[in-house]
Amino acid sequence: MRKYLKVIIAPLYWRIMNRLHNYQVESTQVGFRAVIGRRVIIRAGSEVSSSVKIGDYSYISGPRSFVGSANIGKFCSIARETTIGVSDHNYRWVTTHPIIIDPEYGIVKDPVEEPQKPAPIIGNDVWVGMGAFIMRGVSIGDGAVVAANSVVTRDVAPYSIVGGNPARHIKFRFPPEIVAALLEIRWWDWSDEKIRKNRENFRVVEAFVRAHQPGVGDRQSGGESGSSEVTQVS
Ligand SMILES: CC(C)(COP(=O)(O)OP(=O)(O)OC[C@H]1O[C@@H](n2cnc3c(N)ncnc32)[C@H](O)[C@@H]1OP(=O)(O)O)[C@@H](O)C(=O)NCCC(=O)NCCS
Repeated sequence: MRKYLKVIIAPLYWRIMNRLHNYQVESTQVGFRAVIGRRVIIRAGSEVSSSVKIGDYSYISGPRSFVGSANIGKFCSIARETTIGVSDHNYRWVTTHPIIIDPEYGIVKDPVEEPQKPAPIIGNDVWVGMGAFIMRGVSIGDGAVVAANSVVTRDVAPYSIVGGNPARHIKFRFPPEIVAALLEIRWWDWSDEKIRKNRENFRVVEAFVRAHQPGVGDRQSGGESGSSEVTQVS
C-alpha cells in the first residue's frame, strides 16, 4: 500500500520541491530524505535512495542509474546506467537469502539490519563513465575519472583515471604540480559569480593554475576561495 501511495505522491512531491529549491529532479524514484544540492539534476529513470547526499551542480543521468548510498561532492558528472553504493548480502551468515532479515518472507516478524560497509564517498568534479559500478566502502578523490563499465573496488586517487574490472590506475589527468595546485585552489567552492568570471580559464589548466596559484592570491578576480570538506553538500 505504502509503495503505491509513493508512486502516486512522488511526481507531485518532486514538482513542488523543484519549484521550491533550485534543483531539477526528473525522476520519481528519488528518496524523499535524499539531500540534494543547488542546481543538481537527476534525470528520469534513475533511482536514488534516501540516504544519498549530492552536492551542488552534480548530475545523475538516466535511465537506469542506481545510487543506493553515497556522499557525492559538487560538480560530479554521473553517466547513465551507473550503479553506486548498493548493499551487500552477508555471506558470513548461514544464508545470503533475506529470509532471516526480511518479514516479507514470513519467517521473521521484524526487519533485521544487515551490516554494511560505509557509503562510497565521491569527491568534487568526479566524472563517472557509463555503466560504471562503484562499491560501498570506497573513496574517489576530487577530479578523478572512472572509465566506462569499470568496477571500482578500491580507493581512487584525486585527478586519476581508473578503468577496468577491477578498476586499475590508467593515468593522471595532469602532472603532480598541477594536481597539487588544483587541490589547493578548490574551484568547486567558488561562488557562481567567480566561476562565471573565470570560465574561459577553465579550458586551459596551466593558465588557470597560474591565475589562481595558491599563496599568490587571485590575479583574475576576487571572491572566496572556500575551504569546505571534500564531500560537502549544501
Ligand atoms: C576513461 C576515458 C575517458 C579514457 O579516454 P582516453 O584518455 O582517450 O583513453 P585511451 O583510449 O587513450 O586509453 C588509455 C588506456 O585506458 C584504457 N581504457 C580506456 N577506457 C577504458 C575502460 N572503459 N575500461 C578499461 N580500460 C580502459 C585503454 O585500453 C588504454 O589502455 P592501454 O594504455 O593499456 O592501451 C574513456 O576511455 C572513457 O571510458 N570514457 C567514458 C565515456 C562515457 O562513459 N561517457 C558517458 C557520457 S557522460
